[in-house]
Amino acid sequence: MRNMHRLFIILLTVLLCGCDGSDPSTVGAADGLPNLQCVDPDMQVWVGGLPHPGLGPSTLERLGIRSVIVVDAPPPVGGTRATVHLPLKYSGIDALEASHLTYLLATMERPIYIHCHHGTNRAPAAAAIGLIGTGELTAEQGLRLLDRSGTNPSFDGLFEAVRTATPIPDDRREPYDGSDATVDDFALSMSDVDEVFARLEGASERGWTDPQSPADAAELVDLLRVSLDRTSLNEDLLFRRLSEGSIERATALEDALVRGDRTESLREMNSLAATCSACHKRFRN
Ligand code: HEC
Repeated sequence: MRNMHRLFIILLTVLLCGCDGSDPSTVGAADGLPNLQCVDPDMQVWVGGLPHPGLGPSTLERLGIRSVIVVDAPPPVGGTRATVHLPLKYSGIDALEASHLTYLLATMERPIYIHCHHGTNRAPAAAAIGLIGTGELTAEQGLRLLDRSGTNPSFDGLFEAVRTATPIPDDRREPYDGSDATVDDFALSMSDVDEVFARLEGASERGWTDPQSPADAAELVDLLRVSLDRTSLNEDLLFRRLSEGSIERATALEDALVRGDRTESLREMNSLAATCSACHKRFRN
């Protein structure tokens, strides 16, 4: 019984002491940092999603975050703390990017917050690779971080990059400040697609009661048209077929929402989501 009691106290202490001693059980998506996770209490490194413009900044403040590494496509806006943009793809992390990540984790002031959009795929992979680079994590521990973060197993490239990452000695850490970060228009407009799509997913879960949904679906049709038109991948016949299919599904979703047909809307939403995944599986991951 006494042992149980002791175990309980230890557990409680672990739960209450996050990377900086603040209470992580009271910090999370509701506080504007989606999928927030402390990589390790000693390392003072956190990973998560795009800070919510309303609540995110004060939560970063509360966690004592001194530096931010943004691995999402859109460049960071505002913010007072040291911030570096290192946009990463879902298809993997190459040797130069690994070297930059290692440099940043070794030189930026901690606590550091590393974020992508959702906080479950690119950010944990970036943290793992940078910390393997500095020698703070082993590849095995890096893979465990991906598991813990719920990284989607279909991102083979991210898993492979962590699996094969190695420590990078001081003199081979390539300095990087993000001043010449480039993101192609296509990746950027895809993240706009994603934002509208996420709104529709939320509305779908709430039973399509949101009066904004037909307009969101119309916007999605436009964004898909513009973004899928913007890439040289278009020269590939399969890509074009998948892209036309997804525009058709989004248009059908818009029609169903305008008609107020909830069952049909749900069906179209699901088949639209399937077209996103089909194309990503073949052309992105
Ligand atoms: C016809 C192919 C195709 C379709 C359909 C498609 N995508 Fe993409 N998407 C891509 C490719 C290719 C990339 C990788 C772009 C890059 O990194 O250069 C991408 C990238 C993304 C990204 C990552 C952007 C970033 O931050 O780098 C998100 C998010 C995304 N797509 C969401 C969606 C959603 C949601 C849908 C469906 C509503 C969708 N996509 C439909 C091909 C597609």
